[in-house]
This record gives sequence, structure tokens and C-alpha cells, in this order.
Amino acid sequence: MSSNAQSGGVPVLVLREGSNRSRGRDAQHGNITAAKVIAESVRSALGPKGMDKMLVDSFGDVTITSDGRTILDEMDVQHPAAKMLVEVAKAQDNEAGDGTTSAVIIAGELLNKAEELIDKSIHPTIIIDGYKKAAEKALETLEKIAIPVDLKTHEYLKKAAMTSMASKLVAEYKEYLADIAVKAMLEVAEKDGNTYKVDVDDVKVEKKNGESIRDTSLIKGIVLDKEVVQSGMPKRIEKAKIALLDTSLEIEKTEFDAKINIESPDQIGAFLKQEENMLKGMADKIVGAGANVVICQKGIDEMVQHFLARKGIIAIRRAKKSDMEKLAKATGAKIITKLDDIKSSDLGYAALVEERKIGDDKMTFIEGCKHPRAVTILIRGGTQRMTAEAERSIHDALCVIRDIVEEPKVVAGGSAPELEMASVLKKYAETLPGREQLAVKAFAEALEAIAITLSENAGLDPIDILSELRSRHEKGETWAGIEVLEGKVQDMTKVGVFEPITVKKQIIKSATEAASMILKIDDVIAAGKMKAPPMPPGGAPGGGYPEMGDY
Ligand SMILES: Nc1ncnc2c1ncn2[C@@H]1O[C@H](COP(=O)(O)OP(=O)(O)O)[C@@H](O)[C@H]1O
Ligand SMILES: [Mg+2]
Repeated sequence: MSSNAQSGGVPVLVLREGSNRSRGRDAQHGNITAAKVIAESVRSALGPKGMDKMLVDSFGDVTITSDGRTILDEMDVQHPAAKMLVEVAKAQDNEAGDGTTSAVIIAGELLNKAEELIDKSIHPTIIIDGYKKAAEKALETLEKIAIPVDLKTHEYLKKAAMTSMASKLVAEYKEYLADIAVKAMLEVAEKDGNTYKVDVDDVKVEKKNGESIRDTSLIKGIVLDKEVVQSGMPKRIEKAKIALLDTSLEIEKTEFDAKINIESPDQIGAFLKQEENMLKGMADKIVGAGANVVICQKGIDEMVQHFLARKGIIAIRRAKKSDMEKLAKATGAKIITKLDDIKSSDLGYAALVEERKIGDDKMTFIEGCKHPRAVTILIRGGTQRMTAEAERSIHDALCVIRDIVEEPKVVAGGSAPELEMASVLKKYAETLPGREQLAVKAFAEALEAIAITLSENAGLDPIDILSELRSRHEKGETWAGIEVLEGKVQDMTKVGVFEPITVKKQIIKSATEAASMILKIDDVIAAGKMKAPPMPPGGAPGGGYPEMGDY
């Protein structure tokens, strides 16, 4: 059957030439296969024994990572269903900040199992319904087994931060970095009734090559990757009164676009004098407001720099917008967009502003801010690749800490919760009618993919491990999981591998959602590319669709 109907021998063209359409079983198969390929591509990166990936972009830049989201971000994925799986990684990262690899692996496995069911003539709608029920039951199980965390002790925060970094290039330094991450997040956490609120963005992360990861430090304040704009300015100011400007301290070129007739040397002199006066006027306004530090998002004219330097004022130019916002929050300064409006009440405060040499560069430290809830983690490391991966790892650690601070519950890792959910689901399946039962069982088996993958990556026999795990969960050992470093099934709470419940819940939600969305599709219509030149008359061979499959 063609998607373009024949009407009395005249073809009715519905789709543009070159469009591609696949339907029903073919569409499903194509989508599932594409999604499985994506899941396959991140499998070997899961867990502490997972491998890293070396990704080379079209400019030849190299990234080395084992971070699921980063791997998928750097891959130039074309297939629409594969793209949906990449979206899963993004959703997981945005919602929970960790667990991206797991979410993609489980989504891929849910689709793999669904395909087996479809082959047994079970309709996708039944599978989707079964998966939905299974997901609800799984989430309920997580809530039931979760360990409540008392935030007064930081033990679980630190352990969860360490778990999130155990699978990264920086694993060797996980304890040191976890300490920094916990301190940073607690510094910016705000009490909100009985709970706490904390924003990962309140922790600024800067990186500078040189030294080693162990020289990474936590600064109570804001560090700008900027140097003081002119060498004549002071390098250090105590009791800083800070002006934040989102306006340039230059004379806009456009003001001179008008035609100026200069008839004598006097006029040139007067003209230059006038320009100088305007620039001095800018500096005077800042001086008048009482600022001794100026941080400007735009440029600063050399003349203005000179006037500011003479008054002993530190100036920084071309600060990032995101930094300006952080500075405003930390120092209590108002960002000024029109210099004429500047008032002393707009200025922010910090106990110290100082330029320091870090590696080969200079950075500016703004410490002892008015609102102490501003910290910076300054990452050091031998190479740019190392600091970049450290940054991604610290991001995961910060997210994991946030997750627990906001929902103080953890589960142990090493596939223990996945196996526990699977075990509960298998029993639950028995209570359901035939076809749904199969879908719920399939969901349980998909969760076991985490145990299989962790064992495979650790060079263990997944069949042995899985059967041991199943029987120990059957016997009520909720936290039996694989300790991959020793290669044994153990009580993961004793090993101290903990993860936020938020991450595990989000994995279930994102994976189920993506799998269902892909299963619901039974028709893929891809528009043909627009052809640049119009078809010559009679050029199209009978309005055919040469690339179409036969339906
Ligand atoms: N020492 C350990 N032994 C076994 N599993 C571990 C250990 N440390 C972490 N894991 C597990 O590794 C998985 C996370 O691996 P990771 O590569 O970070 O993937 P994701 O992107 O899903 O977070 C989790 O299931 C976690 O429980
Ligand atoms: Mg992780």
C-alpha cells in the first residue's frame, strides 16, 4: 500500500517528493533498533569499572569522559528515536544530575524487552500500560526501602558524593573532592521551613590548569577568571565597595558616525579635549558614588582605566553575565545599566578583592562577601582534559548532594535497589492478568540490566552474579549488590556505596517515559529535503517515491 493514494489512475501526492515513510511494525522496529544502539554505546561506561570514552568532535577537539550525558551530547545522533534517548539523558541530568548512563541503559532494555513481546503479538498499548504499572510499583518500592538521612551528620552526603565520582577519571581523589563538594553545598544551603533549599548554581566552579587535582580548593567567595585591567591599579583592596556595571565605559563609536567638519588644529584639540572630558566624567561618576572596585560586563576605555587607576580603584572588564549575577547576589550590589544612575546605595560589599597569580594566569578573588552564601570551587589539574572531567564529576557530586539535602533519603548502590525492585515486581506480576503480567515481568528484567552491565564491566560472570543476587533478594537481603571493586555480591550498605533516592526515582521515570513514547509511535514520516532548483517540466519520473519501502 502506498501512502499516496491512486485515484482513478491519477496518483494523489500527499507527501513531498523524497519524503520517507515507514509504518506499523517497520516503524517500531526501526525506532527500537536505533534506541538500542544508543543504549549500547554507553553500556561499557557504567560503574566504577566502566571504561572512558574518547570523543573527537568535528573540530578535532578531544574529550575523555565516562559521563553518559556528555558521551551522548558529543555524538552527532541523527535518528529521531535515537535522539529521544539522548533527550532521556538530558532530562535525567537536569532533574537529578546523575544516573544518566543508567537511565539510558534501562530505557534501551525496556525497548528490547518490548520488542520481544511485540513479536509474541502483544500490542504496544498493553506493554505501555504494563510498564506504567510496573514503574509505579518500582517507585513505591524505592520509597519503602529508602534509608532516611539526618542532615546533621554529613556522612551520607559525603558517601553519595563519593559514589557519584567513583566511576569517573577523578575516582582516585573522590574523598578529597567529596569533602569540598559537601562543604560548598552546605555553605549555600538555605533553611526553608523544615527543609532546606539549595541551588547548584550558587556554587561557582572555575578551573585552571596546573598543579594537581589535590590542589583543588574551596574559596568562600567568588573567583573571576579575570585580571585587573591595568597594571597601575592596586592588586588588593580591603573593605571593597563594588560597582557592577552592565554598561560600557567607552564612547560608543556610533556617536562619531555623524559628519564632523574640522577646519583648524584648534578644533581638533577641542574635540579631543571634549572626548577626554566625557571619559573623565564616567570615571568621576564612579568615584563620586564611592566605589573602589568596578566590575564591568563591557569594555573600559584606556582613558577611563587611567583615571580610575589614579584614584586607586580596581577595575575588571568583560565579566561574564552569569558572574555578574552571582556577584550581585553575593555582594548585595545592584547591576547598573545607566552610569548616570549610579548611587552609593547600589554598591556591593566584600571584605577583600585581590588579584592572585594562579598557574600562568591571574584571577581575581572576591572574598568575605556581604552575603556569605557564595562559594567557588577552584579546580586544578595537570591537563585541560583532566580539569574538564573533574568539572563534570564535581557537577554530578554537587547535584547528588543537592538531591539528598532536598529529599533526605538514600539507597545503597551496586544494583541492589534495581534487583530489589525487580524482585518485588516479579511477585506483583503474578497478581496481574496474562498479557500485562508479561509486561511487568519484562520491566523487572530490564532493571536487572544494571546488575548485568556492572558485572560485565567488572569482568565478572553476569549469569553467576545475577543468580546469586536474585536468590539473596528472594531471601530478603534488600541491599545485596555487586561490590565491583572486589567483584563480590555484598551488603552494599556495609560497603558504603550510597545514592540519593531522587536519582533512582528519576531513572525509573525518565526511562519509562522514553520507552513508552517510542513504543507509541507506529508511523514515521520524514519530510524530504527541499530541492533547490525547481524540477524541469516532465523531469520527475512519474511522481514516484523511489526511496519508499513497499507497504
Ligand atoms: N563500589 C561500587 N560497587 C558497585 N557499584 C558501584 C560502586 N560505586 C558505584 N556503583 C554503581 O555504579 C552506578 C553508577 O555508575 P555511573 O557510571 O556513575 O553511571 P550513571 O551515569 O548512571 O550515574 C550505580 O548503579 C552505582 O550504584
Ligand atoms: Mg554517576
